Amino acid sequence: MRISVDLNGVPTSLDIEPQEFLLDVLRDDLGLTGAKRSCDTQVCGTCTVLVDGAPVSACSYLAAETDGRAVTTIEGFRETPAFEPIAAAFTRHAALQCGFCTPGMVLTIHALLEDGELTDEPSIRHGLAGNLCRCTGYRSILAAVGELAANRVAAG
Ligand code: FES
Ligand code: FES
Repeated sequence: MRISVDLNGVPTSLDIEPQEFLLDVLRDDLGLTGAKRSCDTQVCGTCTVLVDGAPVSACSYLAAETDGRAVTTIEGFRETPAFEPIAAAFTRHAALQCGFCTPGMVLTIHALLEDGELTDEPSIRHGLAGNLCRCTGYRSILAAVGELAANRVAAG
């Protein structure tokens, strides 16, 4: 089947199989490997991308469901002004080690900040519960996102 997607801001026509998952299309067909495959069962969040601005687990999300919608991967997000403040906070707080979880983590953080859902540590813990990290112990991530959330609140 053929679908039309706004992929990272570019109108894109894709030939897919009806049962194909979005992560397979992104990584295998399009070479967009920023979204990572780990659990493949909608648990770890490393495959997170945005569909119409909302985070989804691409490993378990049918590509067909994106027809007529906007898909943002980390490759597209890094070209937007919203990327830099998150990247800077992660750098300041050393909030990554291997980086495998980071693309999905960054996209989830962006979406939740936009929705005003990250305001304090409990809300950050809750919001990021679906994005697992094997390296950092989470303290540095919480510090980075806490700073971003505080800046967002201060900016009104
Ligand atoms: S690889 Fe998709 S949630 Fe883990
Ligand atoms: S930085 Fe390695 S899994 Fe998160």
